[in-house]
Amino acid sequence: MKRVSLPDRANVLLIGGGGREHAIAHALSRSPRLGELWLTDTANAGLGRLGRRSPQPVDLSNVFMMQRWCDRNEIDLVVVGPEAPLAAGITDVLTTDRRRVFGPSKAAAQIESNKVFAKQLMRHAAIPTAAARIFSEPETARAYIHAHEEPCVVKAAGLAEGKGAFVCETPAEALEALQQLMVSRVFGDAGATILIEEKLTGQEVSVLALVDGRSIWLLDPCQDHKQLGEADTGPNTGGMGAYCPTPLLDAAAMDAVQRQIIVPAIDALRREGIAYRGVLYTGLMLTPAGPKVLEFNCRFGDPECQALLMRLEGDLLEILWATSTGSLNDITIRFDDRTACCVVMCSEGYPGAYEKGKVITGVEAAEALGGDQEEVRVFHAGTTTADDGTLLTNGGRVLGVTALAEDLPSARDLANAACRKIHFQGAYFRRDIGDRVLAKVSDR
Ligand code: AMP
Ligand code: GLY
Repeated sequence: MKRVSLPDRANVLLIGGGGREHAIAHALSRSPRLGELWLTDTANAGLGRLGRRSPQPVDLSNVFMMQRWCDRNEIDLVVVGPEAPLAAGITDVLTTDRRRVFGPSKAAAQIESNKVFAKQLMRHAAIPTAAARIFSEPETARAYIHAHEEPCVVKAAGLAEGKGAFVCETPAEALEALQQLMVSRVFGDAGATILIEEKLTGQEVSVLALVDGRSIWLLDPCQDHKQLGEADTGPNTGGMGAYCPTPLLDAAAMDAVQRQIIVPAIDALRREGIAYRGVLYTGLMLTPAGPKVLEFNCRFGDPECQALLMRLEGDLLEILWATSTGSLNDITIRFDDRTACCVVMCSEGYPGAYEKGKVITGVEAAEALGGDQEEVRVFHAGTTTADDGTLLTNGGRVLGVTALAEDLPSARDLANAACRKIHFQGAYFRRDIGDRVLAKVSDR
């Protein structure tokens, strides 16, 4: 790919409207090189005030209009937050000689959008992952479940907004998951093919790496908390809180993850003629037999991104540009040594049905706890502003209250104290982000 340098004033279009994108926009807006920041989604009250709303919808059935809008507004870099536009091929259609897109091509995004593709890639590259069987016929899948008593995980092969994996303790639960995915098609064609995996046990860790087609920059490992309830109970959510770095993977273990998982995955893609550019998210289970891959994602995690970017000291615009132009080797990426902890405040009823429009108070008081150094930041996910300026809830995950402190216990305590300053009817947050690892550390 032709090397182009970052313009002095780079115009950026940021796609996406959640907490991850608010954190990205916040970091971009601190770059001295940022020209105009355009947003596809300005309903989010925190994100919306950081840029201008782009009137051009993200619509892959009308590629010409998108290209023309980007040309007219002299967009230099398109930053894609969520997976759906990447899976639909936005990078392929918006990249030009002078305009770059942060995020992998459609072919490379299959590592997330097609779990059969990802599983086969891992098999060919001998990457440790859960054993799995692939089914496209409900009858054969049912017969397989009837013949296997042990717990399993039933997954939709396609994209299902992070809700397509069912961890099943009994065959009855697995049959129900199959019924939902393949017969009722709750996620549409994403459930036409399913995987039935062995259920792995251990702690989950997210390892994110910037990949520029050749070079890899491994970011510090994070731990997300997927379950709604404290002590990891209740239904899976998009993520209830994350902290970074996690002590669960030390430098030697990270080195092994890079050599045994990340490099082989990128090499295996390359052998299929696919160059990976963007962020590669590896969801790992730390099993008694070593780390095994649960999934790959082709984007930043949410809320991992909030915790990661809270620690970033360098210029995110420069980093995303270098990743998209194959020049990661030319830059240095610096992070604060301290720990960041993001605690998600969600609406009552989430991840099921919830009401919107509840008045939110206390965000300034929460941020004030971080002092002049901005050691507390409240990233907005599902919020909006009423006509009179009142801040309202507008989603399941509402806020990502993120704190930076010397170590995990103090970062978590600061984030929790900040959450206690924020009020909306039915607000819920887990107070125990990081507890499992803290218990483990104190056992030693
Ligand atoms: P996925 O969409 O594949 O990332 O799965 C979502 C969540 O389901 C993961 O974050 C895990 O908590 C859980 N999960 C997925 N696969 C497995 C597995 N093989 N064993 C145990 N838990 C799993
Ligand atoms: N935090 C999990 C994800 O973004 O997929």
